[in-house]
Amino acid sequence: MKFVLTIHLVWGMALSLLAQRAIIPADSLITVGTYYYPEQWAPEDWESDIKKIAALGFEFTHYGEFAWAAMEPKEGTYDFSWLDKAVNLAQQHGLKVIMCTPTPTPPRWLTAKHPDILIKNAEGRVIQHGARTHPSWSSDVYKGYVEKIVTQLGKRYGNHPAIIGWQLDNEPSHYGSPYDYSENAEKKFQLWLQKKYQTIEKLNATWGAAFWSLTYQHFSQIQIPNGKELVAQPNPHAILDFKRFTSDEASGFLSFQARILRKHIAPSQWITSNFMPFYESVDPGKSADLDFVTYTKYLVAGYDKGIGEQGFRLGSPEQIGLASDYFRPVKGITGVMELQPGQVNWGVFNPQPLPGAVYMWLWHAFAAGSDLACNYRFLSPETGGEQYHTAMLEKDRQTISSGGKQYVRFLDEIRQLRKSGASETMPADVKARKSAIVYSLDNRFEQDNQPQTDRWNYMNHLTKYYNALVRLNAPVDILREEHPLDDYAVVVVPAFQLLDKGAVDKWTQYAASGGNLVISCRTGQKDREARFWRALWAEPIYPLIGGKVDFYDHLPPGLEGKVQSDGQTFSWNSWGEILIPGPETETWAVHANQYYQGSPTVIHRRLGKGSVTYVGTDSRQGDLEYAIIQKLCQTRNIPVWNLPYGVVFNWRKGYWVGVNYSEQPYRHPVEDNRILFGKKEIQPGGVLVYK
Ligand code: GAL
Repeated sequence: MKFVLTIHLVWGMALSLLAQRAIIPADSLITVGTYYYPEQWAPEDWESDIKKIAALGFEFTHYGEFAWAAMEPKEGTYDFSWLDKAVNLAQQHGLKVIMCTPTPTPPRWLTAKHPDILIKNAEGRVIQHGARTHPSWSSDVYKGYVEKIVTQLGKRYGNHPAIIGWQLDNEPSHYGSPYDYSENAEKKFQLWLQKKYQTIEKLNATWGAAFWSLTYQHFSQIQIPNGKELVAQPNPHAILDFKRFTSDEASGFLSFQARILRKHIAPSQWITSNFMPFYESVDPGKSADLDFVTYTKYLVAGYDKGIGEQGFRLGSPEQIGLASDYFRPVKGITGVMELQPGQVNWGVFNPQPLPGAVYMWLWHAFAAGSDLACNYRFLSPETGGEQYHTAMLEKDRQTISSGGKQYVRFLDEIRQLRKSGASETMPADVKARKSAIVYSLDNRFEQDNQPQTDRWNYMNHLTKYYNALVRLNAPVDILREEHPLDDYAVVVVPAFQLLDKGAVDKWTQYAASGGNLVISCRTGQKDREARFWRALWAEPIYPLIGGKVDFYDHLPPGLEGKVQSDGQTFSWNSWGEILIPGPETETWAVHANQYYQGSPTVIHRRLGKGSVTYVGTDSRQGDLEYAIIQKLCQTRNIPVWNLPYGVVFNWRKGYWVGVNYSEQPYRHPVEDNRILFGKKEIQPGGVLVYK
């Protein structure tokens, strides 16, 4: 109990410190900006461009994340005169500035002088200079140069009143080559392993190195495990450690920069970075040195079909929600640093978003927890890498684009709302259904590497639970494992394959003290190092779930497994478990075909003041997950709504915002006099805001 209290105190203190360094005052609701690249335009254009940014109503601009070559044209020769001018122009026109470190794009003189700072992909190809994110986080030479440029920037702009905060790097990643196989990375990996295991014998034992004669005598013999260079599967423990190492390298790189900056900048300037949501090899929550984390979001680029025939123009409803709900709990606040402005250039195909989509995304981002929203970018590039990308203005640099108009409208409405201020008191019924999902990068690493069936996808599985909760209008936090749980009515722990006694104890305590824990298939099969227990299948969770996991099954493509619950039938194809109920469990769903027809696959029990529900099957459509969570809420008297998939409602700062990603209009029962913007019948791609 004392331990829990201490965690709460520390957590609470961390959040209140952050509130003091809030991105914007709470009653501003959200602040909105746009990216501008002075180094990409002639100096004589800057003033009129920046004037237009301000005239459109934007409140900040964003400079410098790719400008290293302009900042340090020759080794050790720094030129910030141009950036000074751009920052001062912003200030003169009433704009704040987010300043960035330019580390994704080292200048050519640097990569030419030190080609070994470049990453290597899994095929052994050294990544060329010419795009971005090509330097290795494991290269000390590169980090030496990073230290110098970041120091210069910190000294120069750390006390400039126009600068509200800093973005480190840009979308920390190596994009399509998420793992670095360079010699630098290999050496650092060996050191990382040495630190972790201390002795090579311990590593050999943990990795099961006796299998296929992997056994090492020295850490210096260890290679980065690389499926592309092996004729059979790599050692799973080596892969798990290599992925953990990569995520540590990413967060270490950001912490390294943040600590340098912190020496020079004013306490009022915050530090963040703009992460791609759920990019596998980078853990945005890991670098404790950031004040908060932001994300980038592009929904319409031909990849996401959305809902119905026109869904490709809106994206899926969970995209903005999942991202916000994942980034916000890290430090209690978040923002969307890049939000799609319209048509992009890099998709499989690049359709027009539905008219109004940009406006809807903005409202959704606000509603889902963003304190800032920014678009990439104010002007379309005339030359260079991202031609065809739309922006706030058309290519004539005068006409406001469709996306630009939607930003202006949103900004105008936010200004109207600011007059009535913000309320931080969440309505009691919303609070009563506040829920969480525990996202575990380790578990994802393990399952992405050993899915056991090509039907399995960790993120899809998690998303089914997320959508179920959103349809019930539960506010959801996607939590890191260490986050306290007792604030939440329902906590879902999806596919938590790797665990230890500490995790089981924490979840047991959560349920016993009144929480409703939902655990899904695959949980508890192995220890933290992905070694099976010398025990029955998932045995460490038996006391918690009150029953047993007998075995699991997979089906071939096209064959539907059937599960029944309360007279409804659900289909599955990826992962189905057969459970053995215990004396205290109720069976909530059974298999309805295959040779184990009639066997339980969902069991529920009371535990102390709360409950534990174990869901052994991953349904195809997520409808089983929805039905079970809905039943759980009914059973436990948790007040919920019942929304169709695609319609999302969030309460934020005193306002209700509804958005519609579905193909049907949705009529919301709200009194006319409460409506601020939109209509109670929300069209596909539409927005309703009410108080
Ligand atoms: C983002 C990236 C930006 C820009 C944009 C284009 O992912 O961070 O720098 O490339 O995509 O849509």
